[in-house]
Amino acid sequence: MAIAKFRINGQNKQVDVDPTMPLLWVLRDYLGLTGTKYSCGIAICGACTVHIDGNQARSCVLPVSAVEGKEITTIEGLSADNDHPVQKAWIEQQVPQCGYCQSGQIMAAASLLENNPNPSEEEIVQTMDTVLCRCGAYPRIKKAIKRASEIK
Ligand code: FES
Ligand code: FES
Repeated sequence: MAIAKFRINGQNKQVDVDPTMPLLWVLRDYLGLTGTKYSCGIAICGACTVHIDGNQARSCVLPVSAVEGKEITTIEGLSADNDHPVQKAWIEQQVPQCGYCQSGQIMAAASLLENNPNPSEEEIVQTMDTVLCRCGAYPRIKKAIKRASEIK
């Protein structure tokens, strides 16, 4: 066990855990941030996507020791009042079906727009194809990202 220190959703946190423990476990089981989901556990599906220093990362394969001193944002910290442009567009376009993949989708979309405020359709597809949605919400995801880029 070792103390890992980082900033999460604007707050300083420290946890006493095995340094090899995946960040996702720390978020869900130690910090109660259950908005970030577990699905494949092998960095394929994107359900566990969070932001590390502003860039998207898959928390299921990231040892907590790798985020020491970094700034982490989860779906709970993306906005104060669900008013991030991506969240507004998601609600407007009624994107989710079952909802399981959605925090990963929203975090990936927010990171895409942060780095590229006006992405082309091809750039949207390239990014969002890496976050799996078994319900096939992709057409609405695409529309919502275009809408979010307008709101932004
Ligand atoms: S649960 Fe992390 S990528 Fe699938
Ligand atoms: S909304 Fe069900 S898996 Fe994406």
